[in-house]
Amino acid sequence: MTVNNIDNLLHETRRFPPSDEFAEQAVATRELYDAARADREGFWADQAKTLLHWHKPFTQTLDWSNPPFAKWFDDGELNVAYNCLDRHVEAGNGDRIALHWEGEPGDDKSFTYAELTAEVKKAANLLTALGVKQGDRVAIYLPLIPEAVIAMLAVARIGAVHSVVFGGFSAESLRSRIDDAEAVLVITADGGYRKGKAFPLKPTVDKALENDADGNPSTVKNVLVVERTKGDVDWQHGRDLWWHDEIAQVDAEHVAKPFPAENPLFILYTSGTTGKPKGILHTSGGYLTQVAYTHKNVFDLKPETDVYWSTADVGWITGHSYVVYGPLANGATEVIYEGTPDTPHPGRWWEIIQKYKVSILYAAPTAIRTFMKLGRQIPQQFDLSSLRLLGSVGEPINPEAWVWYRDVIGGGTTPVVDTWWQTETGAIMISAMPGVTTLKPGSAQVPVPGVSIDIVDERFRTTEPDQGGLLVVTQPWPSMLRGIWGDDERFVETYWSKFGPTTYFAGDGARYDKDGDIWLMGRVDDVMNVSGHRLSTAEIESSLVSHPMVAEAAVVGASDETTGQAVVAFVITRASQADAAAHEDAANVLRAHVAAQIGAIARPRQIFIVAELPKTRSGKIMRRLLRDVAEGREIGDTTTLADTMVMQTISKSMR
Ligand code: WTA
Repeated sequence: MTVNNIDNLLHETRRFPPSDEFAEQAVATRELYDAARADREGFWADQAKTLLHWHKPFTQTLDWSNPPFAKWFDDGELNVAYNCLDRHVEAGNGDRIALHWEGEPGDDKSFTYAELTAEVKKAANLLTALGVKQGDRVAIYLPLIPEAVIAMLAVARIGAVHSVVFGGFSAESLRSRIDDAEAVLVITADGGYRKGKAFPLKPTVDKALENDADGNPSTVKNVLVVERTKGDVDWQHGRDLWWHDEIAQVDAEHVAKPFPAENPLFILYTSGTTGKPKGILHTSGGYLTQVAYTHKNVFDLKPETDVYWSTADVGWITGHSYVVYGPLANGATEVIYEGTPDTPHPGRWWEIIQKYKVSILYAAPTAIRTFMKLGRQIPQQFDLSSLRLLGSVGEPINPEAWVWYRDVIGGGTTPVVDTWWQTETGAIMISAMPGVTTLKPGSAQVPVPGVSIDIVDERFRTTEPDQGGLLVVTQPWPSMLRGIWGDDERFVETYWSKFGPTTYFAGDGARYDKDGDIWLMGRVDDVMNVSGHRLSTAEIESSLVSHPMVAEAAVVGASDETTGQAVVAFVITRASQADAAAHEDAANVLRAHVAAQIGAIARPRQIFIVAELPKTRSGKIMRRLLRDVAEGREIGDTTTLADTMVMQTISKSMR
């Protein structure tokens, strides 16, 4: 974040107290804070008991005897899918719509809770028939179609573990995730729709499952293929199976068995500071408790009347916690949409809100800023009067975007809740409560009741107001990650070593204001945030240097008006290839190379071919200086550079 932005934020004085009308009907009240303060663990135990069905009640809330390895509700047993499906049907709500699915080409389909339950039961039987057992890992590589939700819940229902891989990731990224988790099954589709076109997925899976460079086969035994685009697919007999053929042959009945609260539910890979993505592990009881609790209270959910829409893809944590598990555990009616916001026209989102009378919308600041640029005349063509609450997630939302969101989308009346959390935290950690908190545009504000957050300096002292510091979580929370798949050491080292084994280090910078509200200031490590998606500088650097043309590479996240940050790379090419006239070509080749290796989201916005990179005397690349260059700023302090002339060389070579 630039100095300028911080200045602006310090001067943000607009305040939005909840209206009496909203406060009177709000789910979350001040008492929630009192209860959590009086007895934190007791508070979570109450939430777990009231929000979920336990086949076997727990007697112990938290086991923190071996930090940072936590166990929540450890002796309890539940079935996550039963909690999201059957129990709503048994309670007489089988006719309530669970999912309104909207495909990008305009096809649609709705599922009641009874119908969704029936689909998941069949899918659970199918997985069992394919030999998938409790604890086995299943990779899911699907577009946002109903089968994505059905597949996740079916895996959960039989106590297996899903690893959803975003459909935009490359074959190589998919393979490395399959290998790391040793997945036995991949669930995919022939393709999906994006930007008005069918994009194929099955060929990517085929490529991912080829023997690797050392001749090793993958761990995958079967590939289940959902028919979506009816595009041509290659078929490996014995391995590949059509979802619709198989599902037609299985039993419709399936009884959900209870599993221990700490049974693994899913692995979700996310970028860290090294080149290798981390498999973040979440388990069942604590995770489901906190996602249901936050979904209900932060979004003020009235399941009988609300229509909720989170625009996230299931490939990200928001899609796990606030498309699948939170809303369905709460018996909500929700919308899911397969495609891009501007297809076939730039008002597509607003059309969907009008069509389904969406009352709660949860989206990312990048999207809001894009719509802002397009102008208010687009949303104004649609009836958005059903909206009563707006949420934001993924990156800091600047006050201008916040106010635009409330005014133009929310008709000037809806609360906007800015929710801070991470793949690792599993559920929302910092957010206003819409009926209680006086809202401040740009600030995520306060920890949700039951969560303990602090901002500290390097010596673990709470920072003074307006002093930047490091965001930490000081008490364990139910939906906390339980580990990094297969790498306890990295888990401890990454999150629990900076301030000792009981303090979670989030990797975000933050500050308090004079009222004690929290303002997020971006990552303090080499993780970038592009359009609300996490990318690792190291991962993109290692992709660049894997290209024969590249000798050395440095990647920075440069601030970008729309996407928050953008990937900018500085590359030294090998001497023989360093023909100046070919720079532009080289940059394009390398951008395509990164997109093919990692996925389109990682494609650098710009690549600069340079002669040298700025390094300290100990050889560390000074990304701070490259960021200055990438953002067009005056170059900062260069005195620690080994070669103080290098920045001039770089600036010159960019002109
Ligand atoms: C950033 C997404 C500011 C932050 C749920 C965090 C935010 C990372 C916010 C996690 C917010 C997320 N304000 N920054 N409201 N929400 N972030 O794992 O840097 O994809 O560490 O989880 O996004 O990204 P992840």
